[in-house]
Amino acid sequence: MPDTTIKTEILIHDLKVPISVIDAGAKSLLNRQDSYGPLTDKQIKVLKRIIRNTLTTKRLVNDVLELGRSREGVMIISDFPVSHLVTCVLVEIFDLSDPGAAETIRKIKTYDELNRVVQACGTKLSFNPKAWRTMVHLDEAKVRQILRNLVTNAVKHRSSFVEISGSIEEKQLILKVKDDGRGIPPSDHQRIFETYFTTGSSIESAIQSHGLGLAGVMVLLKDMGGTLTLNSDDGKGAEFIVAIPL
Ligand SMILES: Nc1ncnc2c1ncn2[C@@H]1O[C@H](COP(=O)(O)OP(=O)(O)OP(=O)(O)O)[C@@H](O)[C@H]1O
Ligand SMILES: [Mg+2]
Repeated sequence: MPDTTIKTEILIHDLKVPISVIDAGAKSLLNRQDSYGPLTDKQIKVLKRIIRNTLTTKRLVNDVLELGRSREGVMIISDFPVSHLVTCVLVEIFDLSDPGAAETIRKIKTYDELNRVVQACGTKLSFNPKAWRTMVHLDEAKVRQILRNLVTNAVKHRSSFVEISGSIEEKQLILKVKDDGRGIPPSDHQRIFETYFTTGSSIESAIQSHGLGLAGVMVLLKDMGGTLTLNSDDGKGAEFIVAIPL
């Protein structure tokens, strides 16, 4: 591995400590007002924003480190049910957009209840009961990163809904993420998987979109021997299907 890559990864790794200190400090101020002193509504709002952003930063750091791990061929395989994978991804996504919903999702025990809660937020689940309960033997961090990226994109681009479905077919875990947004013209079907390719043009969207998500998805998928299929056209929404051998 080139020297600069190791140096960059160690630097990114070392960000973990200061991020945790910022996170813990903000949480102490927010949750321990008895010893740290009372807060105004405005201060609470700012602290909550700080905590949400430390979460985003932590996630970015972990994602980059996970890609590094993938490049080195390191796998951490465990047994987990498909339900756990999907629920964790939903919590991770809602933690940033709707912390109240994330809190509710954490406590939910059944598929039907989960589907009701997320449907109220514009996301539909379509899993057959058998697939939902199936235990899979995979690198969960990698699969989660793949699904989280696809769902985050779908939520970003949807016009009104996102559908996440899954099944087990021919010893493969199949995950589909579909939205009804502006879609992707065939001329961009290759390019969206290149690093730093985005279709956003404003500075605002440059901050939101790095054009790294899908490139990372492809690295992780390749590592696990998986494939990705994209069905989409201009104005027709997008459907990303991943198949990961079990
Ligand atoms: N569901 C989708 N609908 C329409 N366009 C999409 C969808 N998913 C991805 N794209 C297009 O593909 C581009 C690349 O996606 P990718 O996830 O790699 O980067 P990003 O979402 O822009 O930024 P980030 O690095 O934060 O993920 C996006 O900028 C967008 O133009
Ligand atoms: Mg993305």
